[in-house]
Amino acid sequence: MDTIKVNNYDEMSKKCAEKVFEKISSSNRVVLGLPTGGTPEKMYDYLAEMLNENGADLSNVYTVNLDEYVGLSGEHIASYRNYMNTVFFDKVTIPKENTNVPNGLAEDLKKEASAYDQLIEDLGGIDLMVMGIGRNGHIAFNEPGTSFTEGTHVTDLTEDTIEANSRYFDAYEDVPKQALTMGLHTMMKSEAIILLASGEGKKDAVEKMINGEVTEELPASILQKHENVTVIADEDAL
Ligand code: F6R
Repeated sequence: MDTIKVNNYDEMSKKCAEKVFEKISSSNRVVLGLPTGGTPEKMYDYLAEMLNENGADLSNVYTVNLDEYVGLSGEHIASYRNYMNTVFFDKVTIPKENTNVPNGLAEDLKKEASAYDQLIEDLGGIDLMVMGIGRNGHIAFNEPGTSFTEGTHVTDLTEDTIEANSRYFDAYEDVPKQALTMGLHTMMKSEAIILLASGEGKKDAVEKMINGEVTEELPASILQKHENVTVIADEDAL
């Protein structure tokens, strides 16, 4: 695992945007794995700016998001599809049909989950995956205790995650209790991974991810087994 220590959130965001921009610019075709949440928001701002300023051709850029809440339509303000459209996709020239977020309203969620893994395979796998980390060490919505061998699946969100994400909803009760998430097995097949962390709240999880035991109790620790992981984290998170 390579670690890049930066001073603050802004530097973390810029550094990551530069790396994603570089990957897009140097590839004829690229598949990106993308996160939502508070951590990558500014990274998307910088990236959109870089892509637009350089008139980047995004017709061969494909994206697969890490997760989506079960029970929310893509139009719901707190859905991850809506987040991605608002924060990034609508600001750049990527064809919408190249962008993928699991369908949290699918009637058969199991079928949706395996179709999502198939889609990633059909795209040729993920070239570069960007992700955040939860305070409890989750990546995507793989909560502590999730098997390392899981593909995309439906998961019950922990109280800690529901509480952390309630800031995006009117009321705590409105936060969905389940999500469709890319699984650790699927994520580990990505060619390269960038993990972003900012703020003291992530410090414990980041420390365990980098130096702790590789255990399903700390899902991000599996990244120690991946050959191409770059952690970009600010002082507070390290
Ligand atoms: C979001 C995701 C989650 C978040 C994590 C951190 O797509 O997969 O794992 O990265 O919950 O969230 P923030 O960035 O809001 O602290």
